[in-house]
Amino acid sequence: MIIFKKRIDISNYIVNYKKTSGKIGFIPTMGALHKGHISLIEASKKTDTLTICSIFVNPTQFNNKADFEKYPVTIEKDIDLLEKAGCNVLFLPSVEEIYPADSSTTLPYELGFIETVLDGKYRPGHFQGVCNVVQRLLDIVQPNTIYLGQKDYQQCMVIKKLTELIQSPTQIIICPTLRESDGLAMSSRNMRLTSVERMKAVKISEVLLFIKQEIKPGNLQDLKQRCINYLTNEGYNVDYVEIADATNLTLLQNWDGKTKLVALVAAFLNEVRLIDNRIVNED
Ligand code: PAJ
Repeated sequence: MIIFKKRIDISNYIVNYKKTSGKIGFIPTMGALHKGHISLIEASKKTDTLTICSIFVNPTQFNNKADFEKYPVTIEKDIDLLEKAGCNVLFLPSVEEIYPADSSTTLPYELGFIETVLDGKYRPGHFQGVCNVVQRLLDIVQPNTIYLGQKDYQQCMVIKKLTELIQSPTQIIICPTLRESDGLAMSSRNMRLTSVERMKAVKISEVLLFIKQEIKPGNLQDLKQRCINYLTNEGYNVDYVEIADATNLTLLQNWDGKTKLVALVAAFLNEVRLIDNRIVNED
C-alpha cells in the first residue's frame, strides 16, 4: 500500500492513474478502523482497480471540542488492517494539507431540509463540516465511486445532496451496517466505552429491533416515547428516537402502513454519543 501525506503527491499519482482505463474507488474515514470500515474497502476491491482510503479526523465537523480531542487515533493498527484488506493507497493528510491557509471556501452548502432534522438539528454545523471535507477529498481523489456506510444514514443523504450541488460525477454506493455479535453497530467511538457502558450500548440496537417488531399503521408517538423512556431508564441521555420516511428523512407522526420507514436513534452514554438506524419495513 502506498501512503501519501501530501496533496500534491497523491494528486500527481492520480493524474497518472487516470491515464489508464482503471476505476478508482474511494473510502473516506476518520480512522480508528474496524470491520465496518474494512467492509467498504472490500466492496471497492470487488469492482474497482484502485482502492483509495483516507484517514483524516476532520476538525470542521466536530461541534463539540472534547469529542474532537478524544476521537480515537490508532494509526499503526489502521495501516495494518488496510494492508491486510488489500487497500492500494492510503491518504493521510495533515489539517494544513486539507485546509491550506490560502484555500477558498464554498460554505455554506444549501443542504435544505436534510440539515434541519436529526443530527442536523442536534449537531449544528456538523454536516457543513462533512461537506467541506468531502468536497475537498473528492477534488483530490477524483474517484469513480465513493463507498459510504448506512450506519450514518443521514450523512449518506447529505453527501448525495453535496454531489448534486457540486455536480460531481462520482457514483455513491451505500454499504450495510456491520454489527458486533450482540447487535451493536460497529463504530470508532465504541472504543471509548467502559466495560459497563459497552454492555449497555447494545440497548440502542434493541430499541431499533423493538420498533421493527411493534410498528403498526397509525400514530407513532407512543412507540417512540416508550423507546425514549426505556433508554432514559437505562441511563442514556437521548437526543432522539425517530421514525422517518426512508427516502427523504421526513419525520413521521403517523404511518400509512406503506411508506418505507427508517428508525433512527442518537443517544449519549455519559460522554459518548452513539447513533444507529434500521430500515423498519424491509421486504
Ligand atoms: P467514519 O466515522 O470514520 O466513517 C467512515 C465510513 O465508514 C462512513 O461512510 C461510515 O458510514 C462507515 N461506517 C462506520 N461504521 C460502519 C459500520 N458499522 N458498518 C459499515 N460502515 C460503517 O463518517 C465519517 O468517518 C466522516 O464523517 C467522513 C465521511 C470520513 C468525513 O469526515
